[in-house]
Amino acid sequence: MIQYVSTKGGILPVDFETAILDGFAADGGLYVPTQLPKITLTQLSTWKDLSFIDLAYEVLSLFIDISVMSEQELRQILQESYSPFYDSSIIPFHELSSQKNLIVQELFHGPTLSFKDIGMSFIVNLFNFFLARKGEKMTIVVATTGDTGPAAAHASIGKSTIDTWVLYPKEMITEEQERQMTTLTAPNVFPVGVSNCPDGADDLDVLIAELFADKGLKEALNLSSVNSINWGRVMMQTVHYFYGYLRVVDRVGAPLNFAVPSGAFGNLCAGSLAREMGLPVGKFIISNNQNACLYRIFSQGVFSKKEIINCPSSAIDILVPYNFWRYLYFAIGQDPIKIKAWIEEYTQNGIVQFDKKTYEEYSKGFIPYSISDELTLAIINEVYEQEGYLLDPHAAVAVAAANIFNKDYTSEATILCLATAHPSKFPVSISDALGKKEKLPTAASHFSIEAAKACCEKTYTCHFENMRTAIPKIMKENSTR
Ligand SMILES: Cc1ncc(COP(=O)(O)O)c(C=O)c1O
Repeated sequence: MIQYVSTKGGILPVDFETAILDGFAADGGLYVPTQLPKITLTQLSTWKDLSFIDLAYEVLSLFIDISVMSEQELRQILQESYSPFYDSSIIPFHELSSQKNLIVQELFHGPTLSFKDIGMSFIVNLFNFFLARKGEKMTIVVATTGDTGPAAAHASIGKSTIDTWVLYPKEMITEEQERQMTTLTAPNVFPVGVSNCPDGADDLDVLIAELFADKGLKEALNLSSVNSINWGRVMMQTVHYFYGYLRVVDRVGAPLNFAVPSGAFGNLCAGSLAREMGLPVGKFIISNNQNACLYRIFSQGVFSKKEIINCPSSAIDILVPYNFWRYLYFAIGQDPIKIKAWIEEYTQNGIVQFDKKTYEEYSKGFIPYSISDELTLAIINEVYEQEGYLLDPHAAVAVAAANIFNKDYTSEATILCLATAHPSKFPVSISDALGKKEKLPTAASHFSIEAAKACCEKTYTCHFENMRTAIPKIMKENSTR
């Protein structure tokens, strides 16, 4: 029986369904499986030619008991989740001819054009499946730096089992991302823009943790979350690492390097769990923008928070990478007492300096970089000028970091650069990068973004100072439970 416990160690083991529907564990920790499944190279070789959906089935079935969900049910949920994707292969690849040894894994062909659709489409369908079976309804709340929100909102359309609230820091996401949420007419989707957030979406993550801690509200609304605190998102994201690996390597068993644009460490947490399961990863190149929270953790052993900087790669303007705790739990040998103590230390002092042994354990195989805005924009321009391929600012951060890694380590090995968003979501940065003030290339547009421009918007707004009273109030008033 596959069971789930909390990174803080304060709950009894639960089954997969409970871990998914709860979101947060009751002790405030993050759900993790009691054991990570191990995959041998022989098994990996047999997966070499599988489609994304068939591979997803193989990987996910290692985490889900057949008593919770049958093979057919899991396959059907996967099919439903990925049929709205714009590319029939779900995840295509592009070999960069202008950059040495770099291949781009295009993770942005879902309905809202970011990699968040990969985890989100699946998990919202999973919620719907479990809730319909129980005859229940839930309220889902997510915070977004611009991509999680649209993905959650779109995946929720037509799901009568859930009401979805998406909280975003107003003026800190692009207009295109905002309209992907606010132009939806679905009656169960409620976007809320919060102005003046000093720490951006991190402030909204704090609010969500507080909403969960309010037992009365949690019960009244049957509250849950599909942020990457939810195990289901991280679990699903392990699949694109296996898929990318199997599509790119000539020989199963050879190590492959990954460059990953990173913010809250959800995606890299998934990658590191895939590595722990047996995926032959060479190095993970942590690609931070100037909000270098992961850079500090992986280069100096310091978990700390600084003032937020608005970068062209705005979706990774993150100060507190909460999924790092989930990764750390496994990296140090599943010790919840230590994790709880560090989280408490961080909450009290705003900083944790890890001891040398812990730092050495968790930083193994990770090479961190913090990429400047100038370099991000320059690489978008260089790749576009040289080969007509348009990177979004997040993919550009990964490509820039991969290039520096190749120089620093005189490496000739292939690096798979994860492209996490479509450039059409960031036209201002693309324009800044290409220096074209009037007409952007067609690669910088997408028909779904254009269609949203022609629609009216529906959203709630409030100020940061009032969000603690305003948001629970409006949620209660609109609850259909
Ligand atoms: C386009 C894009 N790239 C990268 C990331 C970073 O992902 P993670 O927070 O899982 O590190 C995000 C997350 O918000 C994103 O929207």
